[in-house]
Amino acid sequence: MKKALVVANWKCNPSTEKEAEKILNEVKRQIRKITNVQVVICPPFLFLPSLKKKINNTKIVLGAQNVFYQSGPFTGEISPEMLKRFGVKYVIVGHSERRKLGENDQIINKKIKSLLELKMSPILCVGETKEEREKEKQFEVVERQIQEALRNIKKTLLGNLIIAYEPVWAISTNKGKLCSSDDIMTMKLFIKQLFEKNFGLKISERVKILYGGSVDDKNIQLVRSAGIDGVLVGSASLKPEKFILILKAFS
Ligand code: PGA
Repeated sequence: MKKALVVANWKCNPSTEKEAEKILNEVKRQIRKITNVQVVICPPFLFLPSLKKKINNTKIVLGAQNVFYQSGPFTGEISPEMLKRFGVKYVIVGHSERRKLGENDQIINKKIKSLLELKMSPILCVGETKEEREKEKQFEVVERQIQEALRNIKKTLLGNLIIAYEPVWAISTNKGKLCSSDDIMTMKLFIKQLFEKNFGLKISERVKILYGGSVDDKNIQLVRSAGIDGVLVGSASLKPEKFILILKAFS
């Protein structure tokens, strides 16, 4: 059976290393019985070193929430090589919260390219805004985001790519405004077809498709029924008791 991929995006939380370690320890304590799930925790960069010491002999691996596309005179940035040498394989790229801060398709393309060239696994976030969904433009938007992100990247490098479908209007809603299972499934099929059309069946079968946007312990069964390969979890991943229930749903 194919392992599900569950990615925790801690975003800009928590405030201290101690709290970060506490969340991790709690997940670690309860994770033993979970099988068949690859768990990736993406904390803020600052906490990676201390968490790395604590994940030994667990099913957890660490990921990053962002990366720059090269090393050199780029103040404040972290390069793909640094992450790779540190032992990070999974990197979230093009999250809508970063797109809102000005990250555009060209920058995302450079990041994806450099990660794939290093045989790392970018988790490319795509998804439409509320206005775009109201105009039924979600497929057009997702197709454009994927095509731009993968522009001029060799087909042979795409095996490690992961796509996270995250409708912007469904992220961080505490009112449970979730994308319906049917809509998630339809988008998954659309993305698979897009890959098949552009890169062939083999790549289309390989690329993993996750869903993200207000996933929690209450709606995880619904989300899972859409037949996705896993989930990208924001706020619920900071609550170990909720996160474990999400993992259990895939186990
Ligand atoms: P959320 O965040 O689960 O808090 O909605 C998901 C994400 O932004 O990746």
